[in-house]
Amino acid sequence: MVTAGVHGLGRAIAERLAEAGLGVVATTRQADARAAAWAAQASALFQRPIRVARWDPADPASDDEVLEVLRGEGARTRVLVNNAGPFRRARQSLADVSLETMMLLWQGNVGGGVRLTQRLLPALRASRDGRIVNLGAVGAGAAGGWTGRGAYAAAKAALASLTRTWALEEAAHGVTANMVCPSDIHRQDKEARHPGETRPSGADVAAVVAFFAGDGARFVTGQVVELAFGDRPRLLPGEITESPAAALLPAGVHVRLAGDARDYEVLQARTEGASVEYLVRPPGAEPRWVPGAAVRRVVAERGRP
Ligand SMILES: NC(=O)c1ccc[n+]([C@@H]2O[C@H](COP(=O)([O-])OP(=O)(O)OC[C@H]3O[C@@H](n4cnc5c(N)ncnc54)[C@H](OP(=O)(O)O)[C@@H]3O)[C@@H](O)[C@H]2O)c1
Repeated sequence: MVTAGVHGLGRAIAERLAEAGLGVVATTRQADARAAAWAAQASALFQRPIRVARWDPADPASDDEVLEVLRGEGARTRVLVNNAGPFRRARQSLADVSLETMMLLWQGNVGGGVRLTQRLLPALRASRDGRIVNLGAVGAGAAGGWTGRGAYAAAKAALASLTRTWALEEAAHGVTANMVCPSDIHRQDKEARHPGETRPSGADVAAVVAFFAGDGARFVTGQVVELAFGDRPRLLPGEITESPAAALLPAGVHVRLAGDARDYEVLQARTEGASVEYLVRPPGAEPRWVPGAAVRRVVAERGRP
């Protein structure tokens, strides 16, 4: 069972688990024709049943629909991946964030998953080899602060704590609980695989989830694992940073771009809404504008390696 398993990282996880030989139920708030078409195609590709179930973390009644799909399949859940998790791209400080937004992020990232986990625990326990894998975000395990994203960071930190409690409480039932905390994976990379490239993709996250779901992790529980992809150059304890793109780089720093080994000097930054662009100069070439998302890491600050 992969919540929000039809799109984004959830899809990469659902496909990876099917590839590993599991039948998969992927949930989505909109179980439409496109979701069904993906499930049919992926089932054929991986030769495993992949079904779609409507589920909304904010709607307790939808838990019954998920259980109905499972009953229809005659299937018993052994692995539950709590992947659903709304995020707010626009930054908002804790001075301004509404309780409504905080509750929405809580419900989507934590509350709904707790509810569904409770409903599926009997099956996970009955399998004697149950696995709960939760999707966090970098810094969640340390309950780090995150400028402008405090509500989301708090929800993920809560989920890290719950992961550790599930691990303790369910050990006697043979159920493990672990958490995978990725750094930024951009929209176009979530459902992709980039073997041999330095750029991370959904497949890299899915591989770690599959490890926790697999035989090799039978005795691994209570772990909160970070997939930071080298994106956090000078991290203070307890502080969450995003990719350099999100931090608005000052002029004069040198950066590397995705899939390019040259150093680029940042000349200028400009923002439009939540997106950032940089005017960068590669060695011996004309400056050009690149999207902030293309910046993978800072290699030097002005006058300092
Ligand atoms: N991508 C990253 O860089 C990144 C980094 C760190 C952590 N994560 C975590 O990894 C998980 C998957 O990330 P993702 O980037 O693939 O997800 P995403 O594109 O941001 O979407 C999250 C999914 O959650 C579901 N959802 C349920 N309630 C929602 C609500 N109220 N508002 C919006 N979406 C809602 C949606 O699926 P349906 O509409 O299909 O139900 C949606 O596809 C999340 O838990 C996320 O927090 C992602």
